[in-house]
Amino acid sequence: METKIVAIDENNIDLNVINEAGSIIKNGGLVAFPTETVYGLGGDALNKESSKKIYDAKGRPSDNPLIVHIADLKDLEHIVSEIPETAVKLADAFWPGPLTMIFKKSPTVPKETTGGLDTVAVRMPSDKIAAAFIKASGGYVAAPSANLSGRPSPTLAKYVIEDMDGRVDMIIDGGASFVGLESTIVDLTEDTPVILRPGYITKEMLENALLTKVSYDKAIIDSDSKTPPKAPGMKYRHYAPKADLTIVEGDNTKVIEKINMLGREQLDAGKKVGVIATEETKDKYDKNFVVKSTGSGEDEANAAHFLFKILREFDDEETDVIFSESFDGEGVACATMNRLVKAAGHHILNV
Ligand code: TXA
Ligand code: MG
Repeated sequence: METKIVAIDENNIDLNVINEAGSIIKNGGLVAFPTETVYGLGGDALNKESSKKIYDAKGRPSDNPLIVHIADLKDLEHIVSEIPETAVKLADAFWPGPLTMIFKKSPTVPKETTGGLDTVAVRMPSDKIAAAFIKASGGYVAAPSANLSGRPSPTLAKYVIEDMDGRVDMIIDGGASFVGLESTIVDLTEDTPVILRPGYITKEMLENALLTKVSYDKAIIDSDSKTPPKAPGMKYRHYAPKADLTIVEGDNTKVIEKINMLGREQLDAGKKVGVIATEETKDKYDKNFVVKSTGSGEDEANAAHFLFKILREFDDEETDVIFSESFDGEGVACATMNRLVKAAGHHILNV
């Protein structure tokens, strides 16, 4: 398949391109598009053949449900059977934006889109290109992250091209994704709202908007939990970097000392060593390591923004061993650590 690659400026959206992308979706094709979280791999959410194509293009197990993206709040009632009061409050506070909500689905949504479940995940992105594209596509775009299954979610079009060239009809390049991690997923089908995947919208933000307690799915905070995660996708490791990744946690000075020591042992064994650090610590490492900065540690959002990009770079550069500092914080840092811990296969050293 020939993939058409087009760049769009979000401040001057070319409607010819948007309409062409919309026609592709309406005709059952696939278009990768930017969102504020990560790039999505879109198809018509109400067409079961499109959903099958998405699973094929990603190489993803078809029991892993897709998120339906909308651009207009009034389109929600067409695809869900019930809109709880909690959803109205959260939509009011966070839509359009990086929040996905789980609803009981209406019969309009094919089981192929929801991986066989009776519930449907819905998100209204704030990215302007995404919104225009969803409208031009008929209003309902099913989209997982636009990576091949097993690779980090793409935060730049060049990574979408790396994974999806020849597998989709069009790729829209809209620049770097603002957040850099996938959306927060919250399940509203039970009495207490439950976070199935942490993201930029934190537990505290949800609680402040709802004025009630919100809990985390046990399976995502306790790695030994016997119950499977409620978001089927969270059971997968997601991506294992080609390199061995270890997180070193503890007092800053000790972390740097430990990484320098362990890294030098690896260098001596002939290995290529990578380090994930911050602007404040990056110069404190051995000059023979490849050190990548996630930006200033003063702002939690920086590590979220750069983590996936850095992991892809280390893969491309054939790094053998990676050591990462850990990222503390009450906000989006929880989501960054959730992805990092998974990528490391729970390999954490405390110093
Ligand atoms: O930020 C995002 O959410 C991005 C952009 C493109 O919008 N999309 C994304 O999709 O991350 P994906 O397919 O990579 O992850 C969707 C997650 C999976 O873990 C899936 O199991 C879960 O959402 N999910 C989808 N529908 C669900 C449902 N009905 N019940 C529980 N979990 C669901
Ligand atoms: Mg994904």
